[in-house]
Amino acid sequence: MNVVLGITGGIAAYKGAEIISRLKKKGIDVKVIMTENAKQFISPLTLQTLSGYPVYYDTFKHATENYEIDHISLAKWADIMLIAPATANIISKVCHGIADDLLSTTIMATRGQVVFAPAMNTNMYKNPILQDNIEALKKRGYMFIPPAKGLLACGDVGEGRLAEVDDIVAEVVGLLRQRDDLKGTKVLVTAGPTREYIDPVRFISNPSSGRMGYAIADACRKRGAEVHLITGPTNIKTPVGVHVYRVETAYEMYDAVMSLFGQCQIVFKTAAVGDYRPDMVSSQKIKKDADDLVIRFVKNPDILKELGRRKKNQILVGFAAETENIEAYANKKLKEKNLDFIFVNDVSKTGAGFAGDTNGGILLCADGDRLEMSITKKEIIAQRILDVIIDRKLDK
Ligand SMILES: Cc1cc2nc3c(=O)[nH]c(=O)nc-3n(C[C@H](O)[C@H](O)[C@H](O)COP(=O)(O)O)c2cc1C
Repeated sequence: MNVVLGITGGIAAYKGAEIISRLKKKGIDVKVIMTENAKQFISPLTLQTLSGYPVYYDTFKHATENYEIDHISLAKWADIMLIAPATANIISKVCHGIADDLLSTTIMATRGQVVFAPAMNTNMYKNPILQDNIEALKKRGYMFIPPAKGLLACGDVGEGRLAEVDDIVAEVVGLLRQRDDLKGTKVLVTAGPTREYIDPVRFISNPSSGRMGYAIADACRKRGAEVHLITGPTNIKTPVGVHVYRVETAYEMYDAVMSLFGQCQIVFKTAAVGDYRPDMVSSQKIKKDADDLVIRFVKNPDILKELGRRKKNQILVGFAAETENIEAYANKKLKEKNLDFIFVNDVSKTGAGFAGDTNGGILLCADGDRLEMSITKKEIIAQRILDVIIDRKLDK
């Protein structure tokens, strides 16, 4: 487990020393990149001695000495890049794609998770320019450990003090643990709506955005799983490193799921599959000659029920969107479909369910347990669901 610690030019740079020794005590390898300005605050010699590696700050030094391109090798080496303390300057540079020193260039080159722990004067922290940059970076998947409130080195009181070292270390250790707990596991995720065609240009569907399923797929991949994502039509970016299969109708989804089910150990059925389809699909566009149009619908195959019937050792996780009696309906589904877990949300509540960025609901377990999850980002709900499943079902 490798962490590249980036230290930038703020008073809290000295806390980098403590972070290194605490991470090393947890068995984590740490290499340090400092900015030139950080050297004003703490000596590279201290950090070198604590980390057991040379401290990196010169983009060109090793390239000219022995053809080693540090920003690439460090970027590849890092499972996580922790920038602590992170100045307003480094956050804003990364946000705008500036790579003008070794630290910013390595951040640009890494595929590891980048975590910023900002520390600065409270007015700097609250500056809307910085806040916009933080929000933009979060949207791109960069993580932030927010600063604490209190008396700052400059004498001001407010938000801006580096988060407690304990909290920073716990966050990094948690992230590193997450990286591996699904290693060697194949996961199947379905997401998005289906379309049931009436004629070549019309269909019935539902407002599912696919976000919950994509968040689950991404979270599983980040924890080391091989992820197969079967998705109905969506407008969102597919997560990197995931095998994607695109389908439209419930029947196509059924076929895709059945062909992959046997090789997967965990299945998340988040897709909002149409329960019914028109019994006839017109091969030509239906003209509006008639005053009314009657369409008869027939039932689609119940994919989840079929998986429950075929299941051997797999863990089967269903998702339900209900508008009333949510727990009773979900419990019925859990039993009838032989599921291990079901996550149910009340889609009539603001912030839960279809199309939005957030979700919230209840995770019901086959052993009778229930866990309430309050409304938060779908990415966080995905992580929480995985934590429960891994704790209870996977001996890892
Ligand atoms: C004494 C002193 C303390 C500073 N502390 C901070 C700080 O805590 N946070 C911050 O964002 N900038 C701080 N700065 C300003 C940064 O050092 C400055 O913006 C610098 O350009 C940051 O460079 P870097 O991000 O490449 O390290 C401080 C400057 C001085 C002189």
